[in-house]
Amino acid sequence: MSDAISIKEAVRLVLWGSEKPLRRSEVQQQVEALLGHTVSSSSITSSLRLQSQSDRSPVVNIERGIYAYDLDFHPFGKSRLYHGDSLEILPQLPANSIHAVVTDPPYGLVEYEGKELSKLRGGRGGVWRIPPSYDGCQRSPLPRFTTLTDTELRQMARFFEQLGRELMRVLVPGANVLVASNPLVCHVVTTAMVSAGFEARGQVIRLVQTMRGGDRPKGSEDEFNEVSAMARSQWEPWVMLRKPLDGTTANNLRTWKTGGWRRISDERPFGDVIKSSPTRPEERRIAPHPSLKPQRFMREVVRASLPLGEGIVLDPFAGSGSTLAAAESLGYRAVGIERDDDYFNLACEAMPQLRDLEV
Ligand SMILES: C[S@@+](CC[C@H](N)C(=O)[O-])C[C@H]1O[C@@H](n2cnc3c(N)ncnc32)[C@H](O)[C@@H]1O
Repeated sequence: MSDAISIKEAVRLVLWGSEKPLRRSEVQQQVEALLGHTVSSSSITSSLRLQSQSDRSPVVNIERGIYAYDLDFHPFGKSRLYHGDSLEILPQLPANSIHAVVTDPPYGLVEYEGKELSKLRGGRGGVWRIPPSYDGCQRSPLPRFTTLTDTELRQMARFFEQLGRELMRVLVPGANVLVASNPLVCHVVTTAMVSAGFEARGQVIRLVQTMRGGDRPKGSEDEFNEVSAMARSQWEPWVMLRKPLDGTTANNLRTWKTGGWRRISDERPFGDVIKSSPTRPEERRIAPHPSLKPQRFMREVVRASLPLGEGIVLDPFAGSGSTLAAAESLGYRAVGIERDDDYFNLACEAMPQLRDLEV
């Protein structure tokens, strides 16, 4: 790793990863351990001085000879939840600090904007589709992907390309990226992320009966009683991408701890079709988020995302924190980012309970 990371980046990685502010000598020790060779104390001193004097750097000198990383978070076990916009928080994370991404991003681009969330919270739906109750159960609202115009699809592609560029910097080579999607927009995600430099690596198919599709043509239900406007969706694609490897898979695994998928067991490799169920009512009560993913599925994919079980998993659209809860239940470390105040507070409450659930 010594050639791939500069002293400046190593200083950032060490301060960001530390649970407490560090003395200059502690920074030096940890930088040397990370790089695998000695570094002169003058290099460490000048890197710390230059970074802490720059307005754009998160490295701060809190008192004489003591340094910290200035980025507030909510601590959860070994994990962290940041409160803010991913496109603003990601540039503040150090390069090469993250080993996998497992995320369920917003697609409509507007459905998680304040205006639409207020309509949803006011029970009016807005761009959200409020499905009919089913077997006596009130179903959760769903985003309405079919309403996306060409302009919105282009806007979505730009969003994922921008996200992809930010992720390329914070991820180590060989890192897996797994993005929840749906059959109508997964091509947009794949193409945009590939433009940002990722390799397309297929899809994980979550086999689940969703509430999308199957409806008769809107407003003409009686006239076209025998028609469904769209097939009833029975699977959910999770786009698989990878930051290109540094050399061979084996070399990448040795250097960065990434470059493959963790096997389920000696006999069973991780597979790309996973039987799943809608999120259980018990989980929905703990975390009433409209897009809550089930712990059982999340634990399977989060576990597999770190091939050696080492490193940090990122969810830049954390919602109620289901990815972080899954990571903690597995003994992994995770970093989440959530922009909405209510969902951030919900996640802080829900994550320990989701982590402790039996699945
Ligand atoms: C589809 S939901 C994820 C739900 C999550 N899978 C769960 O199980 O709770 C997407 C989340 O991303 C958040 N979000 C949308 N845009 C964001 C942004 N730019 N930065 C950070 N969070 C964002 C939304 O508020 C929403 O909670």
